[in-house]
Amino acid sequence: MTTKVWRVDPHCPDPEIIAQAARLLRQGGLVAFPTETVYGLGANALDREAVRKVFLAKGRPSWDPLIVHINDLSMLELVVAEVPPMFAELAQRFLPGPLTIVMKKKASVPDEVTAGLPTVAVRMPRHPVALSLIAAANVPIAAPSANRFGRPSPTTAEHVWCDLAGRIDAILDAGATAVGVESTVLDLTKTPPVILRPGGVSKEALEALLGEVIVATADTAKVSEGLPSPGMMPRHYAPSVPVWLSDGSEASLAEVIGQLQQQGYASKDIGVLLPKGWVLPEGQFVTFPWGQWGNWEELAQRLFDGLRWLEQQTIAAIVAPLPPPVGLGLALRDRLLKAATPPSEVLDEK
Ligand code: TXA
Ligand code: MG
Repeated sequence: MTTKVWRVDPHCPDPEIIAQAARLLRQGGLVAFPTETVYGLGANALDREAVRKVFLAKGRPSWDPLIVHINDLSMLELVVAEVPPMFAELAQRFLPGPLTIVMKKKASVPDEVTAGLPTVAVRMPRHPVALSLIAAANVPIAAPSANRFGRPSPTTAEHVWCDLAGRIDAILDAGATAVGVESTVLDLTKTPPVILRPGGVSKEALEALLGEVIVATADTAKVSEGLPSPGMMPRHYAPSVPVWLSDGSEASLAEVIGQLQQQGYASKDIGVLLPKGWVLPEGQFVTFPWGQWGNWEELAQRLFDGLRWLEQQTIAAIVAPLPPPVGLGLALRDRLLKAATPPSEVLDEK
């Protein structure tokens, strides 16, 4: 299959191109498109066959459910059986935006989308290209992040191309995405509501509106008993080079780098997600300028781009400092912890 790439203006995309992409979706095709978080791989959510193709293209296991994207609240009734009372307040404050809400599903949503769960995850993205594409297709769009399963999510059309060229029908290229980490997944079928995946809307912002909100962690998600959100699987978002983490300080970063050097890594084999102004020990490290430490929005926007850039250099390890669990720092920690290779695995390989 040849994958078409259509460049579009991020703010006012050409309606002709959007119409062509929407036609592909309605015919059961797969189209990657930008959202404000990361690029998604879209298919008609009400078309089982199209949804199956998403899993095949990504190499994603069928037990990991997809998010259904809508462009207008009127589409909710196609997919949700029961809209919980808290939904209206959340929608008013955060939608469209990087928040995904898990609710009871309607029977019309194919089991392929929800992996057989009685719930469906719904999201209204804020990106003009995503909104106009869904509007033109006039069906809800199931879309996981447009990466091969387990890889860092794509924040540019080039990232999508690297992972999925030849496996999908088209890519709408509108440049880099603004938020850079995926949406927050909030389960509203539980009281208090549970954050299944931290993301673009912070826990603090949700709590200011809803009161108590619980964050599910990999520990509370017991793998053997089935995961509340399958994306909570411990290893995910991983580049092809092993990732090592330090605590969130310059001294701690230098310490972890020192440990790798003692294990025999040369400085030129070590890649670093390096906060602005931080100084490394002597050596020719490969560095990606990550952004200002403390500006978690900026670091989130550049995280996956940094991991993908570093893995393409000739290095043997990536090191990154771990942000504190504050604001978008919580999502950054989550992605980095999942990208990091358990030390035992790395030592075995060496
Ligand atoms: O920002 C985003 O959310 C991006 C853009 C493309 O919208 N999408 C995205 O999709 O990150 P994906 O498939 O990579 O991640 C979806 C997450 C997974 O962790 C999945 O397990 C969870 O949402 N999820 C989907 N449906 C669910 C459900 N019914 N109950 C619980 N978790 C669900
Ligand atoms: Mg994903």
